[in-house]
Order: sequence, then structure tokens, then C-alpha cells
Amino acid sequence: MVEVVPSILSADFARLGEQIAAVEAAGARMLHVDVMDGHFVPNLTVGPPVVRSIRNVTRMILDVHFMLAEPERYIGPFVEAGADQISVHQETCPHLDRTLRLIQSEGARAGVVLNPATPVTMLEEVLELADFVLLMSVNPGFGAQQFIPRTLDKVRALDRRRRELGLRVPIEIDGGVHQHNIAEVVQAGVNWVVAGSAIFHSPDPGAAFSELQRLAREATAVRV
Ligand code: DX5
Ligand code: ZN
Repeated sequence: MVEVVPSILSADFARLGEQIAAVEAAGARMLHVDVMDGHFVPNLTVGPPVVRSIRNVTRMILDVHFMLAEPERYIGPFVEAGADQISVHQETCPHLDRTLRLIQSEGARAGVVLNPATPVTMLEEVLELADFVLLMSVNPGFGAQQFIPRTLDKVRALDRRRRELGLRVPIEIDGGVHQHNIAEVVQAGVNWVVAGSAIFHSPDPGAAFSELQRLAREATAVRV
């Protein structure tokens, strides 16, 4: 089943609990938390204490997207704080196989993320190991950027490859997805669609989530 995954990056952090409750009440099953370090990406966000606070107020799956140099250092603290799954950028991991196994050994699901400029062929040797793949459809660091259309070709190529290998590894996409393009994204083969500004820049985040989820689920009906 396709899932829309709200990203709190665009939420009002002074009303975070309330906004999380709104999307959960609207039916969200996963919540995306962006962790940025000011080195790998030119922005800073949240650390384990915030994840712990979120963990205390929701049952949603916490999908933590690391945009960090040396991600290995932070896996333990974030899992302990309540992350259910952690994704790491291939571009930050010289020992990607080891890092994915480390996430799994800590008890979380391990995802691998690719920047827009990184080809999906870079995943070939870890496709069977990773629990999911996240394709960036914007350059990471900020919310509310323009969707990069070439990402759809990457989704289709990865979807083809997972079928050839007989794998069910979910494909997640992150960045620039709104009501006008979510159907196209889902039809290309995406399973989990992250949406930040499309949900939290709306006056009614719960309703915005529901509308995206409806459009996404309708689009699965016409997937080839
Ligand atoms: C960007 C983050 C995204 C961000 C997406 O680096 O990884 O998760 O919240 O925001 P939108 O949906 O507004 O493009
Ligand atoms: Zn993200």
C-alpha cells in the first residue's frame, strides 16, 4: 500500500505536537524526521532529544533521514531515542554495507539515500541488504524546493531492477511532491512519498495529508 509520509521539516516547531497529532488523526502511519548537521548539507535541524519527545506522543513509524557526515556516530543515540528506521546517504558512507548492518544490528530498519546526481547503479551491491531506498527528488538541505523531474527515470530504473531481482524493497521519494505531481510519482513505482511543505504549509495539515493520500492511492490503480 502506498503511504504518504509527512516531513516535519516544514512544521511549526512551536506547535509540533499538535501538528503531528493532526496528521496521525488523518491516518498517517509514518513520520519523516530530517536530521541535518551543517556539514553534509548547509542547514541544521534536530537531534535525539526531539526524536524522543516525538516518540512519546505518537505511534507512527519514525522514519529518520540522516543528512550527516559520519552517520555511524549517531545511529545508536537515534535508535535509543525511538527511531524505527534510519536512512543514510550513500554519499556519506565509504563503508555502506557496514553502516546498513550497524543500523539493523541496533534494531532499526536500514535505508540508503541517493542524491539527485547519484545514479541508482550505485546501489547494486546493497539492494538485497537495504530495507528500503530513498531517492532524493531535490538536493537535500531545505524544504519547499522544486521537484527534479529526472528522478522519475531513476524510480523506474530502480523499480525494474528490484523486479528483476525479485525484491520487494520499498522505494521512497523525498522533495517537491505536491498534489499536482503525486500521481505521476506513484505511477513511476514509488511506495512511500515524503511531503513536507505540501502538508505543513497548508492551513489544515490533516486535510492536506488526506488529499495527498487519496491522490496517491487512486494513482496505484493505474500503475502498470
Ligand atoms: C529536504 C528534506 C525533505 C523535506 C522535503 O532535504 O529531506 O524531507 O522536508 O520538503 P518538501 O516536501 O517541502 O520538498
Ligand atoms: Zn528528508
